[in-house]
Amino acid sequence: MLTEHPADFQRALRKRFLTNQRPLPWRTERSLYRTVVSEFMLQQTQVKTVLPFFAAWMARFPDFPALAAAPEADVLKAWEGLGYYNRARNLHRLAKAVAAMSTPPDDAEGWRELPGVGPYTAAAIASIACGAPAACVDGNVVRVLARLTATRTAFADNGTAVKHFTPLAGALLNRRHPGDHNEALMELGATVCTKTAPACLRCPVAQFCAGFATGDPASLPRIARKATVLREVTRAWCVDRGRLLLHRADGAARRFAGIHELPELSALEIDSGAGKLLLTRSRSITHHRITETIRAVRLTSSARNRIARDESLVWVSLATLESVTLSGPHRRWVKEIMAASSSAGL
Ligand code: ADE
Repeated sequence: MLTEHPADFQRALRKRFLTNQRPLPWRTERSLYRTVVSEFMLQQTQVKTVLPFFAAWMARFPDFPALAAAPEADVLKAWEGLGYYNRARNLHRLAKAVAAMSTPPDDAEGWRELPGVGPYTAAAIASIACGAPAACVDGNVVRVLARLTATRTAFADNGTAVKHFTPLAGALLNRRHPGDHNEALMELGATVCTKTAPACLRCPVAQFCAGFATGDPASLPRIARKATVLREVTRAWCVDRGRLLLHRADGAARRFAGIHELPELSALEIDSGAGKLLLTRSRSITHHRITETIRAVRLTSSARNRIARDESLVWVSLATLESVTLSGPHRRWVKEIMAASSSAGL
């Protein structure tokens, strides 16, 4: 019934979106550039994290030509803290490509050919900014569609579920207002049809929802969870004559190229138990649970030799630390340790 007569569903969904959407900065002022930047930032990152970065980015790089003309180091610096730096590199390349075109693409296939643009992002940009009829399917949309259809199939992973629901998403797409429709589904997934506590009583499409009718929408979708992988890393806090030792990833580690981090003790050939414990922090990235320990170490002569030979190990003056790009967690840790050591009068 949902797919035979999608018009009622589309209308109810869009109506709520037009009256109740969050006033996000890429919605209140719309342009192709703002849509592209927001979609890149929103890959793998939540709206509330993106907001301050988006504002700063627009002030620094207001349009495609400004971004295209910027040095890569400036682009990475502006992305500092958002993570997944390949997104920044790809966005930069995309801006150069678009700035060189007479007209940018106006459909999903055209956008798909540009750097960093997967099927989801292509559909989002093409529908929101160009009005092209392309359906967006990501984890949020999968959740909404699995509940609407009460699909209890157990999927092996997210990708399999996305493939499964792509035809349905296409069949439900409002072809007169594809951008509103896609954003309305995203909005529903983010604010109403949430993972653990769907608010069915205020859902604009509950009347179409088989999951609501059958009573257990929160159990859907069923996607196998990967086992958690534990990893422990010990890093060095090493200050010498006002300079901090950092590791700068080179071109071989594409994902982190140009990003600085505190070096691992193993890279300095220093025993992982050496030095004074400064900080221990755990974080989860997808199914990895990473525990990082930072220890204040004195350099052994073999470590000094190692640093002299290894171009990726660099001394950065504490006074100019702000000017290099540190990954987000490392920036926080460095600040914490510096604050603690200055309050201890060190
Ligand atoms: N996630 C991905 N694209 C989005 C958008 N345009 N608005 C809100 N959340 C999103």
